[in-house]
Amino acid sequence: MSPKLKKFADPLPIMETLKPKGKNKKGPYYEVTMEAFKQKLHRDLKPTRLWGFERSYPGPTIEVMQGEPIQVKWMNNLPDKHFLPVDRSIHGVAGAPEVRTVTHLHGSETQSESDGYPEAWFTKGYEQTGPFFKRKVYEYPNRQRGATLWYHDHAMGITRLNNYAGLAGMYIIRDRHEKSLNLPKAEYEMPLVIQDRTFNEDGSLFYPRQPDDPSANLPDPSIQPFFNGDTLLVNGKVWPYLEVEPRKYRFRLLNASNTRSYELYLDSGQPFYQIGTDGGLLRKPVKVEKLALEPAERADLIIDFSKYDGDTILLKNDLGPDADPNDETDDVMQFKVRLPLSKKDTSHIPSELSEIRSLKGNEVKAIRNLKLVGSTDEFGRPVLLLNNKRWDAPVTEKPYLGSTEIWSLMNITGFAHPIHIHLIQFQILDRRPFDLDTYNTNGKIEFTGPAVPPKANEKGWKDTVAAPSGQITRLIVRFAPFAGYYVWHCHILEHEDYDMMRPYTVEDPKRNDKQE
Ligand code: C2O
Ligand code: CU
Ligand code: CU
Repeated sequence: MSPKLKKFADPLPIMETLKPKGKNKKGPYYEVTMEAFKQKLHRDLKPTRLWGFERSYPGPTIEVMQGEPIQVKWMNNLPDKHFLPVDRSIHGVAGAPEVRTVTHLHGSETQSESDGYPEAWFTKGYEQTGPFFKRKVYEYPNRQRGATLWYHDHAMGITRLNNYAGLAGMYIIRDRHEKSLNLPKAEYEMPLVIQDRTFNEDGSLFYPRQPDDPSANLPDPSIQPFFNGDTLLVNGKVWPYLEVEPRKYRFRLLNASNTRSYELYLDSGQPFYQIGTDGGLLRKPVKVEKLALEPAERADLIIDFSKYDGDTILLKNDLGPDADPNDETDDVMQFKVRLPLSKKDTSHIPSELSEIRSLKGNEVKAIRNLKLVGSTDEFGRPVLLLNNKRWDAPVTEKPYLGSTEIWSLMNITGFAHPIHIHLIQFQILDRRPFDLDTYNTNGKIEFTGPAVPPKANEKGWKDTVAAPSGQITRLIVRFAPFAGYYVWHCHILEHEDYDMMRPYTVEDPKRNDKQE
């Protein structure tokens, strides 16, 4: 358990925007180094050893304009030994170097060689590389619409540890249309990266080495099927506060936690105005009283403080009626409405935000029924799987370039999984509940209700979707603009690492890696 830390003692930090190293004919060129360093995460906590990008946790924010490609050289300058417990029994990585990294830009439409395939890892100075390693400099086309993306480590079998150590940052694509909308901007717009951690007394990060009561012959260290920290951080500070003016602000929320999902609300009773999802602006703003955010999901929000001058407002996390009263994760951060209004707030929340063409009119080439299942390994540990297949089974999902498919995610486990597909942004069709007990007894699907359309704030472009237990969640997906090898997986990092991740390929009948 973490030491007791005073809440709202530190101001909210804002990550720096990364500057390019230079420019070449392909556009701006960046270099980003992964390093070990120490950073103060709370006033009363000794500096914490972290691994991060550019000695910053979270990493620096990368900002680009739509249509302007950039290149990033991701460099690993980390120690050879991990400071978190590495389980070598999972994912066929027993022979791999202990510390390996590969960066994925989550939500981006990028060629497979630059996508951060889990087996495209590399070690310090690229001394050793994984079987899929192709290039040091990644290229991001940034052709998709303005959106809140994020970059994070994706190395095979240790993604949960590398992310927990601090290897994640924001990546924002802006576009002209969005700029024309007069949304709150500059100092009135900022990312909020929400994460949970547990600390030891000396300020170091705690991550469990084994389950609490390990059976005799478990590997040591041994992966756990989930991990929730007992302390919440925003932008790398424990329970921070932000001083605001009585006006509108735009916050780009990201849940960058390993396992934890959130149910966010404001204790003032005021709503959020959600303007965007994973893949950019919604059609219309949606008034949201309580915002659910699964790992890797983003929500672009406007909060209007104009009627709350002088007030203190808490961003809360609803833990539900059965919550342990000692659980401190019901608080996220605090807003203090006590800065004077520096100028009249002329920003506004437009009634129409953007156009989103529904994919429902597309010809559907394939419907895939994909099961989210639980199983046990040779040590009696839970293993979560997609369609009962391990990572190393042959590729089964091979959509054609430019084709539209329906992916029907049937969750027969006891909890929700945030399912993420690389390369594309999809649309949610519906969710339909079925009787899980009946299914688990005789394999029959008995629906217990009609298919329910997605919530109003899910009716936009998504790359990660909550697939609840005992429901079939259907997505419609168009696979473009690149062919090549990608992955899809559960974004609970403890699941992704063991073994809820599968390769998939976008097939171009004519040629590989061709652009549409
Ligand atoms: Cu954010 Cu494949 O991951
Ligand atoms: Cu991704
Ligand atoms: Cu999962």
